[in-house]
Amino acid sequence: MLQTRVNSGLDGVVVADTLMSEVDGEAGRLIVRGHAIEELAAETGFEGVAALLWTDFAQSGGDEAAVRQGLAAARVRAFAEVPKLVAATKGLTPVEGLRVGLGMLADSEPMPHHYLVCGALPVFLAALLRAAEGKSALAPDPTLTTAQDLLRMVRGKRADAAFEKGLDAYLATVADHGFNASTFTARVVASTRAGLISSVLAALCALKGPLHGGAPGPVLDMFDEIGKPENAAAWLDDAFAKGTRLMGFGHRIYKVRDPRADVLKNTVATLPQTAGRLAFAVEVEKSAIAALRKHKPGQRLDTNVEFYTALLLEALEVPRSAFTALFAVGRVAGWCAHIFEQEKGGRIIRPQSNYVGPRP
Ligand code: ACO
Repeated sequence: MLQTRVNSGLDGVVVADTLMSEVDGEAGRLIVRGHAIEELAAETGFEGVAALLWTDFAQSGGDEAAVRQGLAAARVRAFAEVPKLVAATKGLTPVEGLRVGLGMLADSEPMPHHYLVCGALPVFLAALLRAAEGKSALAPDPTLTTAQDLLRMVRGKRADAAFEKGLDAYLATVADHGFNASTFTARVVASTRAGLISSVLAALCALKGPLHGGAPGPVLDMFDEIGKPENAAAWLDDAFAKGTRLMGFGHRIYKVRDPRADVLKNTVATLPQTAGRLAFAVEVEKSAIAALRKHKPGQRLDTNVEFYTALLLEALEVPRSAFTALFAVGRVAGWCAHIFEQEKGGRIIRPQSNYVGPRP
């Protein structure tokens, strides 16, 4: 008999065992391949986290130096696609441009596809940002890490060490996070054996909306509208009266504060001249939590990763239009890991629906 109880958001539905990460929503804890996220952000960096995630699943997984080399070679390979990409993406936002760029990569590409996509995204993003300013793209430097090279390719010269470290910590922090919407999408597509590039492209599309990866830009819009901490309470009451969701708050799994919020807040504090903005954000956050308790009592809504992502990416001088695209540059490592895991042991993901239309 057909099951008729509908769970539209799949809350609490467990569809796989995974070795990748554990999101403990009650304790506010994130573990990635056995390591606390706080440790990975502070000590490991993006290449190290990618190596960790790919351990036992991909060529050179577990070997940070080899991963660094593989990603550098992939950036060089991807740069060959840049003229075609720039010509095809005029007028598109950065995340729309990345969508085109991934779509241009052939399944027949001989380079291992996890390297190819992870190397392509930073190269494409930098080229798209420069093209938007009428500047030509800069070739990658294979001696650098992803974070160092991305900032260099965007700015035209190496950034200060604090900026490079800040971006590296960000990419490491967001690299994986359980079965979020984009990762699940990647696994659904991988479950049909469509291949890694198609699965990553699908994941990118799932990351684009404001409820998943697109929240940090609107967080800054909220800061702009609030302007001064003393305006926050009235602005927030008005937002709730209009039924607006507060961007950077709430999470399906976390019922307490998202641990990545503090990791990124601490990273912002390491960057020059952020004290004033950070103090303002902390005040807005306090007011927002108070407003959530007042207007949504019993809902257990707290700060999520996107609130301090907004502040960090602003401090790194990343344009707002590129926030979601930059998230993808980090999360792609996790997507690849989950695609490998799905391909290795998973069956086709094919749930059921409950027909409520007319019958013949
Ligand atoms: N602001 C105001 N109210 C909220 C918020 C919010 N940010 N989040 C949830 N709620 C309320 C809902 O209105 C609903 O209230 P109601 O029962 O009175 O109607 C209740 O909390 C439950 O909401 P759901 O939509 O069922 O919660 P769900 O788990 O499906 O949503 C989500 C999770 C999408 C993250 C949600 O909290 C949200 O929209 N947050 C804002 C967008 C955001 O910050 N996204 C980034 C998430 S982190 C990431 O993706 C990397």
